[in-house]
Amino acid sequence: MGPCTPSGSRANEDNGLNRPGTLSRGCVFACAVTRAPTRGGSFCHPVDVVKAKGQTNGQLLPNAPVSYRLGVQDQSRHVRVRQFDPADAAAVEAVMRRSFALGGPEGVTLEEHVGGIAALLEHPEEAAVAVAGAGIVGYTHPAGVRLEVDPDHRRRAYGRLLLEAARGIAAAAGEERLELWVPVAGPGRAFAEAVGMRYRSSFHLLRLAAGQPVPVPDTLDGIQTRYITPGDDNVAVVALLNQAFADHPSPMRFDVGRMAEAHRRPDFDPTDVLLAHVAGEPENLVGFCRATVGPAADMPLRGDIRLVGVLPAYRRRGIGRELLRWGVGHTRARGAEEVDLVVEALNAGAIRLYGDEGFGHVAEWPRWTLEPAAPG
Ligand SMILES: CC(C)(COP(=O)(O)OP(=O)(O)OC[C@H]1O[C@@H](n2cnc3c(N)ncnc32)[C@H](O)[C@@H]1OP(=O)(O)O)[C@@H](O)C(=O)NCCC(=O)NCCS
Repeated sequence: MGPCTPSGSRANEDNGLNRPGTLSRGCVFACAVTRAPTRGGSFCHPVDVVKAKGQTNGQLLPNAPVSYRLGVQDQSRHVRVRQFDPADAAAVEAVMRRSFALGGPEGVTLEEHVGGIAALLEHPEEAAVAVAGAGIVGYTHPAGVRLEVDPDHRRRAYGRLLLEAARGIAAAAGEERLELWVPVAGPGRAFAEAVGMRYRSSFHLLRLAAGQPVPVPDTLDGIQTRYITPGDDNVAVVALLNQAFADHPSPMRFDVGRMAEAHRRPDFDPTDVLLAHVAGEPENLVGFCRATVGPAADMPLRGDIRLVGVLPAYRRRGIGRELLRWGVGHTRARGAEEVDLVVEALNAGAIRLYGDEGFGHVAEWPRWTLEPAAPG
């Protein structure tokens, strides 16, 4: 069956929390902006963008920042686009908060939106910031499909510069194309069209209402389940996931290093991961489900089905359905009320399954892509 998709195109088994603004590699996000962008004022609108130093095309951002002179009418204004540094976290969080205040993405809380900073802190080399004067005016994190400019600094070409950086980061990570989340409302769509991006597909947040009955998982002939053993199982689980997601509409790659990293996180619990295997052959894995509970604090607990995948040869036998039911029961047993998952619109089989089990639509997160630049 089709999986509940992690939102990043690269993936590990920990990244399936696909809510915009949450952590982890891959997560959609952004901010719907409805107010008119600032133009004019003390800054002239940039007429052109002149790269003064460095080269990001097709490469990871160089360690040395890339400087730009923005606009022939405003040559005193320079912006540097450089790799994210953990010391930037507070300033980037401030950009996230200020954008969110203009209208956050559907189905996402401010905490979840700002929680996206965790992924940047974990892999600073996968994010870039635009620095103008003394302050950070925007950032991008392609693995999290994010690009955001501070509301008071829009329409000054910072978005374009960050897009160039994002393209370089994605290319350096081996991605064929850059993919970003573009909000349904706000300037994101006009921006995406202006820079040559194309709509590709949408991810949908689906939710099972609190109290909505879901059957307990059934046993299936010839199939047994067990929890993951971190470390010992990593190679086999990565192989399983890579096969299970190879034909996904947004193919994802998993790797052992990222999985080990996910297992080292303090909130990782091996009993959140159920593996389906051929009966009597615990090494012969055929299916995977990870289901977690969050957020903490004073919010009602919510379940998240973060990833479900079954090997192609074992599909249409009910394994995905039983794994999903396990995930729902597992999170409810831990106090979850509503249970969420995210699925890609192109993943028709998965959408059918989730609908059958009672999940309803909550929010749409469109994804746009930028194809690689033509050679030469
Ligand atoms: C979308 C966003 C990143 C644009 O950042 P920005 O720094 O304002 O973008 P730029 O100044 O580089 O704009 C480049 C072009 O996009 C288009 N554009 C950007 N915002 C627009 C708007 N509000 N209305 C119409 N066109 C717009 C214009 O063609 C613009 O060129 P121009 O100013 O020469 O006319 C910013 O509005 C933002 O952070 N929005 C919330 C997050 C989001 O939507 N992210 C999606 C990224 S794909």
